[in-house]
Amino acid sequence: MRLTRKRWTICTIGLLLIFYKTKERARTNEHQEAQLTSENELSTSRLLANGSEKVLRKNLPTFLQDTQEGWKVNATLVGLIRKDILHFLDAERDVSVIKSSFKPGDTIHYVLDRRRTLNVSHALHSLLPEVSPLKNKRFKTCAVVGNSGVLLNSGCGKEIDSHDFVIRCNLAPLAEYAEDVGLRSDFTTMNPSVIQRVYGGLLNDTVRERFVQRLRLLNDSVLWIPAFMVKGGEKHVEGVNELILKRKLPVHMAYPSLRLVHAVRGYWLTNKVNIKRPSTGLLMYTLATRFCDEIHLYGFWPFPKDASGNLVKYHYYDMLKYRYFSNASPHRMPLEFKTLKTLHSKGALKLTTSKCRSA
Ligand SMILES: *[C@@H]1O[C@H](CO)[C@@H](O)[C@H](O)[C@H]1NC(C)=O
Ligand SMILES: *[C@@H]1O[C@H](CO)[C@@H](O)[C@H](O)[C@H]1NC(C)=O
Ligand SMILES: *[C@@H]1O[C@H](CO)[C@@H](O)[C@H](O)[C@H]1NC(C)=O
Ligand SMILES: *[C@@H]1O[C@H](CO)[C@@H](O)[C@H](O)[C@H]1NC(C)=O
Ligand SMILES: *[C@@H]1O[C@H](CO)[C@@H](O)[C@H](O)[C@H]1NC(C)=O
Repeated sequence: MRLTRKRWTICTIGLLLIFYKTKERARTNEHQEAQLTSENELSTSRLLANGSEKVLRKNLPTFLQDTQEGWKVNATLVGLIRKDILHFLDAERDVSVIKSSFKPGDTIHYVLDRRRTLNVSHALHSLLPEVSPLKNKRFKTCAVVGNSGVLLNSGCGKEIDSHDFVIRCNLAPLAEYAEDVGLRSDFTTMNPSVIQRVYGGLLNDTVRERFVQRLRLLNDSVLWIPAFMVKGGEKHVEGVNELILKRKLPVHMAYPSLRLVHAVRGYWLTNKVNIKRPSTGLLMYTLATRFCDEIHLYGFWPFPKDASGNLVKYHYYDMLKYRYFSNASPHRMPLEFKTLKTLHSKGALKLTTSKCRSA
């Protein structure tokens, strides 16, 4: 047990992007993470170098082993979890603030930095949905797609697209990876920091066009922007909102309620999963329990190697380095992963971390 835990610590890394960071904070963070990465890479390679790939595999903790075979949904448990989560939040309501909650000029206190405020602009207000984009929604099967490199060569695209509702994270690229990740999008999250990191702050025509093309792929589905978490991204959110209005882009905007993150954290805390700040992936699973009878997760794999020891990219689409768990990082990906794995083994959700059957 102790050994397992030690290995666990050594293997700790992040899966999705650091959430809701101001530009400055993101920069500091990236710096810290770069250092942490090299430290951890050292200990990981030491662990692996010690003639022990085999040892490692033989002793592979059960949460790392692939257990697709014979998975079956436990509808009773799914129902119980839905009911439990409803004590903390209701995805129908908390998935987005709505138009009638604010008027232009209102002040919002940032969820994770209550001293700072944001003014509700006309652009933001005009894009707020009239009713929840998930109102009365119910689906037989849903996919929540994380962005881990474990998806590369998975051939999971067709399977992912076959679900009734597909949730994707952080506006990840699709077209070039369709074979492995699919194309269908019904609900896509986007952290404001993506605008700076991937779309050059929308500062010239080239990057603006690229962004517009990506949004067109959303095909009239939901774009979910956590705009009220911390100060720093408001300029980007405003830029996105103005572009969507000006170009009349086919998307339905959603901005999570001011209570969502605390409510999600509260739910997991009462279930003894102490997560300071849930990742987008965990948030999406938690929301999906409200309206999905079967939830299938893909692209969740917060480790630099797969169960057979092959290298796994942090993201399937870029060269970002692994972000290892540290006290500086708000997420606890390996803890989240272990939790999801346990839920998988009980039939509450299905976690796919290997190739898809039809591939
Ligand atoms: C290598 O692994 C063995 C057994 O797994 C262990 O006893 C030994 O201390 C390890 N050596 C190093 C340098 O980590
Ligand atoms: C399904 O989950 C319920 C609630 O946890 C449990 O009592 C039941 O034994 C499970 N059924 C199966 C077939 O595992
Ligand atoms: C919000 O509006 C008030 C007055 O309308 C102004 O004083 C304040 O600076 C604005 N805050 C931000 C963050 O723009
Ligand atoms: C537009 O901005 C991007 C990202 O900042 C930059 O790489 C590119 O060279 C710029 N293109 C033009 C035409 O200015
Ligand atoms: C776009 O949405 C429509 C209606 O929901 C659907 O029939 C069509 O297949 C979608 N196209 C793509 C490329 O996903």
